[in-house]
Amino acid sequence: MAVSNQSIAGRAHFRCTSVLFREGCSFHDQLIEALRPVEDPELRRSIVDLGMVRHAELDDHGVVDVLIALTVAGCPLRNEITNRVQAALAPLPGVTRVALDFTVMTDQEREAVREMVHGSPGDTAGHGQAHGHAEGRTVPFADAGSKTRPLLISSGKGGVGKSSVTVNLAVALAQQGHSVGIVDADIYGFSIPRMLGADRDPVVIDGMLVPPESHGVRCISIGYFVPEGQAVIWRGPMLHKALEQFLTDVYWDEPDFLLIDMPPGTGDIALSLSQYLPRAEVYVVTTPQPAAQKVAALSAAMAAKVNLPVKAVIENMSWFTGDDGKRYEIFGSGGGQELADQLGVPLLGKLPLVPELREGGDDGVPITVAEPDSEAAQLFHEMARRIAVEFRSKKVFNAALKIG
Ligand SMILES: Nc1ncnc2c1ncn2[C@@H]1O[C@H](COP(=O)(O)OP(=O)(O)OP(=O)(O)O)[C@@H](O)[C@H]1O
Ligand SMILES: [Mg+2]
Repeated sequence: MAVSNQSIAGRAHFRCTSVLFREGCSFHDQLIEALRPVEDPELRRSIVDLGMVRHAELDDHGVVDVLIALTVAGCPLRNEITNRVQAALAPLPGVTRVALDFTVMTDQEREAVREMVHGSPGDTAGHGQAHGHAEGRTVPFADAGSKTRPLLISSGKGGVGKSSVTVNLAVALAQQGHSVGIVDADIYGFSIPRMLGADRDPVVIDGMLVPPESHGVRCISIGYFVPEGQAVIWRGPMLHKALEQFLTDVYWDEPDFLLIDMPPGTGDIALSLSQYLPRAEVYVVTTPQPAAQKVAALSAAMAAKVNLPVKAVIENMSWFTGDDGKRYEIFGSGGGQELADQLGVPLLGKLPLVPELREGGDDGVPITVAEPDSEAAQLFHEMARRIAVEFRSKKVFNAALKIG
């Protein structure tokens, strides 16, 4: 059963007794209007529309009593909600204090919230067949009308900096005002939660996973679901299923960009993703040693196998600037351009080898956050700008227009 915003919000009880609020509209309306712009920090919807405001009353001493129903007990962002409600109500005329109390939604109420923000469970989470993109669950990013650009960050071989590039590009895009998510598709060697500093587990609301956010970027990773130190030993079908859940059960809320940190090589995961994300763009990361034939061939083979367009090459670890101010090309030079030429795509940029980039990854504070004015951070920004503008599809999608 679909539950409208109205009916959820309608369950809340608002009352106000102060004379200070009597001018113009009713107390009820004034309190509601003051609370309406307050968004739940996880779901990014009005707490009024979500039915979280259960009670609001202003007494004769100017104290507003507010009762907020959290979606889950122990909600990690409870303090943030408190701050937001305080900030919305404290400036109202006649208010001397905001007294905030919390309760927790029932299962039924959570179900209603989930339906409101993420649709029917039958279309998405844990129900029905897991079966590619055509039957069973719908991957929203496969839809021609989707505004999200999925960016697959891949490479021909491991250890070239895919995850570092993914995290910093994502942060740079977010800093430029885009909404951004990361799917850590490296199921066996996940690293995104640590690199992004997103160490809080996803919140689960009626089977829907709300991804944690760090530095303005949301992410999901198998790292949140396996006990620390334990290896993932899944095979094909399980990998497929995990990726499907990352794309369907997670509340991404239509980001502008969804970056996919690919595992090294060209395995099952690339194949599954190409099925789920037929509109994805591939960006290949490489190091600068004159491209071994093999690496170029692998990247090209991956793209051909999954039938997705390679958009550009990113060269990483291109030079190191010594204390003497000179640039040393430790891993040689020209590999990025050579690979780009072989694939017939532009070289999007070259990144230096800097200890701060590795440290940022280890500490969960990417260099784009820790040292935004550094050369490396500026280069990430330049690449992010080019991806957002130059590589944008020229096609105009209109979801309302259906031909045939
Ligand atoms: N430009 C750079 N300067 C300094 N260190 C870097 C740079 N790029 C990556 N690194 C470091 O190199 C190591 C490998 O990088 P990263 O994990 O991003 O590569 P990857 O391609 O994702 O590896 P894998 O194939 O194992 O997933 C990490 O320790 C990372 O911090
Ligand atoms: Mg990696």
